[in-house]
Amino acid sequence: MSRPPDDVSAAVAAAMPGGCGECFRAGWAEAQAARPSGELAFLEPATLCRYGSQSAVSPDLVEDLLAAAACVRANPGLSALAWYCHHRLFGADAPDAPVSSWPVPAAAMGRHAGLFYAIVLLSGTPQRQAIHRRLGIPDEVVRDSVADLEVCIRTEPVKELGGRFGISGAILGWLLLTWRGRLYRLGRLQFLPGRFHGRLRAFRHRTTGAVVALAEDGGRFRQDGQVDGAGGLSDPAGAWTARLAESAGQVTGCPISPRGWAMAHRVRLSKAAWAPVLAPGDTVLGIHMAAGAPLTPEACRESVSQALEFFPRYFPEVGFRGFDCLSWLLDPQFPRLLEPTSNLVRFQEEVYVFPCPGGDGAMPWQVCPQPDPATGRAPPPTRMQRAFQAHLAAGGRFLDGGCFLLREDAARWGSRVYLSQPAPWRWWAERALRPAAVCGGRMSGSGGAARC
Ligand SMILES: CC(C)(COP(=O)(O)OP(=O)(O)OC[C@H]1O[C@@H](n2cnc3c(N)ncnc32)[C@H](O)[C@@H]1OP(=O)(O)O)[C@@H](O)C(=O)NCCC(=O)NCCS
Repeated sequence: MSRPPDDVSAAVAAAMPGGCGECFRAGWAEAQAARPSGELAFLEPATLCRYGSQSAVSPDLVEDLLAAAACVRANPGLSALAWYCHHRLFGADAPDAPVSSWPVPAAAMGRHAGLFYAIVLLSGTPQRQAIHRRLGIPDEVVRDSVADLEVCIRTEPVKELGGRFGISGAILGWLLLTWRGRLYRLGRLQFLPGRFHGRLRAFRHRTTGAVVALAEDGGRFRQDGQVDGAGGLSDPAGAWTARLAESAGQVTGCPISPRGWAMAHRVRLSKAAWAPVLAPGDTVLGIHMAAGAPLTPEACRESVSQALEFFPRYFPEVGFRGFDCLSWLLDPQFPRLLEPTSNLVRFQEEVYVFPCPGGDGAMPWQVCPQPDPATGRAPPPTRMQRAFQAHLAAGGRFLDGGCFLLREDAARWGSRVYLSQPAPWRWWAERALRPAAVCGGRMSGSGGAARC
């Protein structure tokens, strides 16, 4: 083997011609000084096979990883880069590295390029195992959680590779959450403790248990109740600003339907009757839906119920108030676009959906593929794709959506807990944007801000 380049620019030039030396400059010299002599152990076939099988990688994929590792071993620049990434991520006191800006060595590794960061991640297998052992995480949970590596390798398109599947810097960052012992797959869903970022406050009626979300002060919404600018659409003529005000005895604000739109009229909630239950910054378990098997209501209920037991047992310090999720899969238009039997529509019915900024671009490009010239105008294979194509053809846009599910309501998955609340919820769901007032779960007239 020729001598590895000590200089970051030379290494990057060898590993990714035209690549970004700056991305790897921080700590380069220290990392190379700490490099052991000889071959890097994590690139050796026996070690890589072991790390692969300890990370639930299938034998087929281990073969591909071995070929990719051979490619790294043969290129001193790539080896230096692999060591640098390993050292930055798993060294003794590894600082947080800006992995999402790390480019993929497309030119130097050709068809193996999507596996470069998979090898880097696997190099941290001993460190990951130590974390999971220290936390006492059951083997089957570890196995299901680390299996996300193969899911991502097989389903995540990498821009720098022209959309071919593999591990980009951004997905490496995502997978590191599992390798650091923060993200867990429990049944069908994955869970990540974090902060609630929804721009709303939720209240629960002390007697009826009804839940209402009020938009944060200053939020700008279109007439259709979506965030102004979401999906690339602004509403200069009709957009309005949500106001939220709190006094000693009451909170006044603009309610959000659990179907995912905000309403311009204001309601007053008496503090004696309504208790605050969720606000921005509260701890929640973020729900993530990996690609794979259908997201059936039974699978979701089972996963949520596992999370309710798992986190208090293994992370008692995480006093979560509920669950949340932000995704293109929560577009509040789905109930209109997809069949009522769609799992994604049924998922939305079990949670409190709220409007989000963003959209139009968050949806993976494979969902709405361009018509394939080879197959002419053949309709795309799934019902979702056909419905979305028609939506786009009619000038429609897509939105991101958010949702929350409060901890006390989570065991009731399957009962459409927020949609089946006493009126006005059903009324709101069906007749959005008409002024209403919330009085302990009963509608008390319309117009202006009503006292409850
Ligand atoms: C989450 C997921 C498993 C849900 O799939 P599901 O349970 O089949 O969902 P639905 O029942 O609502 O699907 C309704 C229809 O849309 C199709 N569909 C669902 N997700 C699709 C997708 N990502 N691409 C293409 N078609 C899809 C289904 O196949 C079904 O059509 P069919 O009856 O013709 O087979 C699926 O969307 C998926 O794998 N997504 C990728 C992961 C992802 O994007 N996660 C979120 C990251 S923010």
